[in-house]
Amino acid sequence: MSKDTHLEEVRSFYDSHPISLPQILEKLDRDGVDLRTLTEDTLQAYDQDHYSGVAANDALAELADLAESDHVLDICCGLGGPARYIARHYGCRVTGVDLTGSRIEGAAELTRMTGQADRVTFLCADAMSMPLPDDGFDVAISQEAFCHIPDKDKLLQETARLMKPGGRLAFTDIVGTDAISDATRQRLERELALAGLCTIPEYCQRLERAGFAVQKAIDLGETWREILIERLAMYRSLKDQTVERFGQAHFDNWDSAYAFFVDQYRTGDLSGVRLLATRL
Ligand SMILES: C[S@@+](CC[C@H](N)C(=O)[O-])C[C@H]1O[C@@H](n2cnc3c(N)ncnc32)[C@H](O)[C@@H]1O
Repeated sequence: MSKDTHLEEVRSFYDSHPISLPQILEKLDRDGVDLRTLTEDTLQAYDQDHYSGVAANDALAELADLAESDHVLDICCGLGGPARYIARHYGCRVTGVDLTGSRIEGAAELTRMTGQADRVTFLCADAMSMPLPDDGFDVAISQEAFCHIPDKDKLLQETARLMKPGGRLAFTDIVGTDAISDATRQRLERELALAGLCTIPEYCQRLERAGFAVQKAIDLGETWREILIERLAMYRSLKDQTVERFGQAHFDNWDSAYAFFVDQYRTGDLSGVRLLATRL
């Protein structure tokens, strides 16, 4: 698949994802939240599109030793949940970048609603080519998103370019293991837009080639196995909303693709990693 076709597949995947701005607003409304006085403290239960909710943000913040003075780049920021959380709880300025226009529009709208637009800003761009100046960020983070980016070398070189020397890159991601077959890779790419999955040792080598020193690489496979079973149940609980928004066939395709993905954590074909690397 060409790079442009893949990026289109990613956009279309996230344009029809069960978690979206309309879905969040509907759920807040159903839960009786007054949207005129929405705060990040309330919104954080609805807007995190990664595993382990805000605890995962704290784990990255701790790993990166976040300080109030840090300017943080959230690469593949989605609807901006982690960016708003870090601004609110660690006092940082955060810039979020995401490829999908509807994600960035949602992120900006939710940030306006929580009154954080002075600390948290967003940019719609491909993470392999971000229109931002060199050496601007103290910290870069990302969660469960680099797995969509086919050219990890380009992504990591671009990330290094944007970070100050000594800056900390802390991220979590879906990784393959030595057991993963080509057929599984192809199905994950076709159905979930996952591309260029690498193993943990390959990630470390690529980071070093891109100008980082790897400080820590924590295997999350076992932890995620249980979490992903719950996540599949969560997506199933959104069935009525997903069918109403995108149709029964879309829900059925999603459900089968996600169940296959979750099963790869049982078979050991997939794992997860939390990584800290410093920019040399
Ligand atoms: C699972 S979501 C994670 C969102 C966010 N990090 C969070 O934790 O809430 C993955 C995000 O990666 C974005 N993405 C995928 N490929 C990208 C690329 N090449 N450049 C920028 N963003 C990308 C998608 O649009 C999507 O919003």
